[in-house]
Amino acid sequence: MEPITPPRLNLARLPTPLVPLRRFSEKHKVPTIWMKRDDLTDTAASGNKLRKLEFCVAQALEEGATTLITSGAVQSNHCRATAIVASQLGLRSHLILRGKSSEHPDGNLLLDELVGANISFVSGADFKELDRVVEDISNQYRQQGEIPYAIPIGASDEIGLWGYIEACRELKSDFTSVNINPGFIFSAAGSGGTAGGLILGNHLYQLDTGIMSFSVSENEAYFVDKVSKDIQAWRERYKYDININDLEVNIIGGYVGPGYGRADTPVFDTIRDLARTEGILLDPVYTGKAFHGLMTELSLGRFTTSSDIVFIHTGGIFSLFPHKDQLHAG
Ligand SMILES: Cc1ncc(COP(=O)(O)O)c(C=O)c1O
Repeated sequence: MEPITPPRLNLARLPTPLVPLRRFSEKHKVPTIWMKRDDLTDTAASGNKLRKLEFCVAQALEEGATTLITSGAVQSNHCRATAIVASQLGLRSHLILRGKSSEHPDGNLLLDELVGANISFVSGADFKELDRVVEDISNQYRQQGEIPYAIPIGASDEIGLWGYIEACRELKSDFTSVNINPGFIFSAAGSGGTAGGLILGNHLYQLDTGIMSFSVSENEAYFVDKVSKDIQAWRERYKYDININDLEVNIIGGYVGPGYGRADTPVFDTIRDLARTEGILLDPVYTGKAFHGLMTELSLGRFTTSSDIVFIHTGGIFSLFPHKDQLHAG
């Protein structure tokens, strides 16, 4: 049976640049770190989420959706990107955010409001029953004659995986044009879709590299299970005849720090260091934590066998602002 090609929208500015961090790499005496600037997929709806939404929202439109429903933490980059994309396409958006509303919204939440997303704030306990909450809200829209389409947390499902599968096609051509053969590609893992897509894309486009994902939230076992299930569902839906046992899910734990969404001083120091050395801005929830994890691993002599390595900058700039107190302190 022929594999199935998914529908896709053109939302992101692609290809994104792949740039060497020469000053930073030399300063720290590590292999040359190349940064894939997926923070530049767009100005406002930026980051890795836009690559995934090209496929998830295309599917939603194919099913006639008028309202996009999705969920995440109060400062979710994914929810902000989904809300902005909905407005771009003349759709409604409804965000289910874990946490409390604020009289002084900041960062992503401020942007959610600005683009007119409807927002339900839910407690941690209710968020554990997210499927039911999504179904209740979807039913409310159906009763109003709307067609809701629910995108999972982080757009990390078998459809969203396509975002980073196709990013690997782009990376393959990047590597040819700058003539490198990186030994490893690193990124942050929050809901697992970037990792899953990269693992599949590495295999399909024969990048012949190691895909290493730094957890910023759950433990390693959680991600191995989540990513493996997403890949299995992708294989079944799109009828790709690949042997799942050929794929390695490499999750690096130990860098969550004080918890999801919270960072400690060394992460803020790394964010400052990169900002001052290269003029590139990381965020404390995802990219800063993962990049700090990478620098720690390199200082321990790990992943140094290859002269070139790649870090995917997956965005997140707006969540710098709610952490202004810790950033300002330095
Ligand atoms: C800026 C940023 N980087 C990385 C990630 C992690 O990607 P994924 O959810 O695909 O694991 C996310 C979202 O979770 C994000 O918002």
